[in-house]
Amino acid sequence: PKVSYSLPDGTVHDVDVPCGQSVMDGSVRNNLPGIVAECGGSCSCATCHVFVEDGQSFFDEPTDEERELLEFADGVRPDSRLSCQLILTDDCQGVRVTVPDTNG
Ligand code: FES
Repeated sequence: PKVSYSLPDGTVHDVDVPCGQSVMDGSVRNNLPGIVAECGGSCSCATCHVFVEDGQSFFDEPTDEERELLEFADGVRPDSRLSCQLILTDDCQGVRVTVPDTNG
């Protein structure tokens, strides 16, 4: 499914991310800046913080682990998520995320 990434520099990138990969994977594998993903997706760094502007409902609710980590991210909003925990499925349509400029 297509995922739209709004980057800190103001550019927007539409990327086709294969099912089973995460929103973080789609960014890192296409060399988009802004999602640092220091821990490589194991939900322990919070440098993959994004705001999910559209499509929140396609993803599982955050785990306790994710919620706790998000407390350490800067500029957290109600739509904040860790993008390594957002796994794309066939159902996902019109997912749009904004990457904050505070991911390290
Ligand atoms: Fe480290 Fe997502 S990549 S928490």
